[in-house]
Amino acid sequence: MAQKSIGIIMNGVSGRMGYRQHLLRSILAIREQGGVLLGNGDRIQVEPILVGRREAVLAELARKHGIADYTTDLDAALADPRWTIYADFLVTKARAAAIRKAIAAGKAIYTEKPTAESLPEALELAAQARAAGVKNGVVHDKLFLPGLRKLARLIDSGFFGRILSVRGEFGYWVFEGDWQPAQRPSWNYRAEDGGGIVVDMFPHWNYVLENLFGRVESVYARAVTHIPNRFDETGQPYTATADDAVYAVFELAGGVIAQLNSSWTVRVDRKELVEFQIDGTHGSAVAGLFGCRIQPRNATPKPVWNPDLADDHDYARDWMEVPDNDVFENGFKTQWEQFVRHVVEDTPYEFDLLAGARGVQLAEAGLQSSRTGTRVDLPELVLPKVAPTPTAVTR
Ligand SMILES: NC(=O)c1ccc[n+]([C@@H]2O[C@H](COP(=O)([O-])OP(=O)(O)OC[C@H]3O[C@@H](n4cnc5c(N)ncnc54)[C@H](O)[C@@H]3O)[C@@H](O)[C@H]2O)c1
Repeated sequence: MAQKSIGIIMNGVSGRMGYRQHLLRSILAIREQGGVLLGNGDRIQVEPILVGRREAVLAELARKHGIADYTTDLDAALADPRWTIYADFLVTKARAAAIRKAIAAGKAIYTEKPTAESLPEALELAAQARAAGVKNGVVHDKLFLPGLRKLARLIDSGFFGRILSVRGEFGYWVFEGDWQPAQRPSWNYRAEDGGGIVVDMFPHWNYVLENLFGRVESVYARAVTHIPNRFDETGQPYTATADDAVYAVFELAGGVIAQLNSSWTVRVDRKELVEFQIDGTHGSAVAGLFGCRIQPRNATPKPVWNPDLADDHDYARDWMEVPDNDVFENGFKTQWEQFVRHVVEDTPYEFDLLAGARGVQLAEAGLQSSRTGTRVDLPELVLPKVAPTPTAVTR
């Protein structure tokens, strides 16, 4: 009989990402629609078990959303053959240890980024998963943003001619936490707790750049802590030991230059919280989270630099909006559906722990560049050979 459901251990489900994106918008939305649609037309239902450290919080979430299973005992959940996938949305610092156990238990692994705190550890996890023969996937949500989907469409159509450069602005003002609560968790600003905008954003920039424009071959970055003192969730002052802004140049295979600013200390004067401008020989585009506007070569105005005359040309009007022409689903949900199909039907899946390790590699190289003031090359990663971890629990 065809498999009717798949059990998923959801660890860290009380957190921002775990709750909103993975539980609410993905797993519960998939459950609501009757499961993941498979290639043969069948549906496979998702069955979550909520895992965390605080039983009362889990019980309340389970009650609120009609979820039958929850536990504070990760080892017991990993030992239970009812659960096929281990999904990790913990703070970055706690991730590697939990994933190691899940690999040893023979579970398929699905995780938030960054996959680990260091490149050796990220590579070791990827190698362990391969040695154990467990399927694995890492979140790559930005590729599903409607704005970037439209951008990918433009690239595929040959709109740009030869792409020359990418310049991106990501960021917004994150409050310090004194007279208004901060809108990000305080661990994000403490290096010792796995925080920092380089570690947070470079894993995203890596898969965005390599999937749309070319492999990142080198990086020059300057990471800074603009605001050294912040206030945590309880109103206590703390020292921000992690970077809150990074200004970086990436050189890509094929010659494209990308320059991306990432900042939690910038006030927004853009249409969206992230915008990428792509200039090509035949046209340019500005893509954000949702929108994407273009200016083809044939409709490019001819500005002439003249500081003596006020310029009343409205440059914003030289751009055309790209239509949706599609229904864009929540990217986290779509990724979950693809990963479940990969586990159940063995469909191809390229965003694995090795891809995740490349994101960690870029973050590490960015921080090294910032420390040394030099451009850092990124060699292509190969997985180290490791012996499979002995199975820690009986399956
Ligand atoms: N894909 C994205 O766009 C995106 C966005 C933000 C964060 N993230 C990633 O998601 C992960 C979670 O980030 P968040 O913003 O949801 O953080 P959060 O602080 O809101 O949630 C963290 C979760 O981990 C749990 N936790 C904290 N310390 C722990 C410990 N020592 N042991 C076990 N569990 C622990 C918390 O209880 C909570 O459930 C991070 O790795 C972060 O890099 C991804």
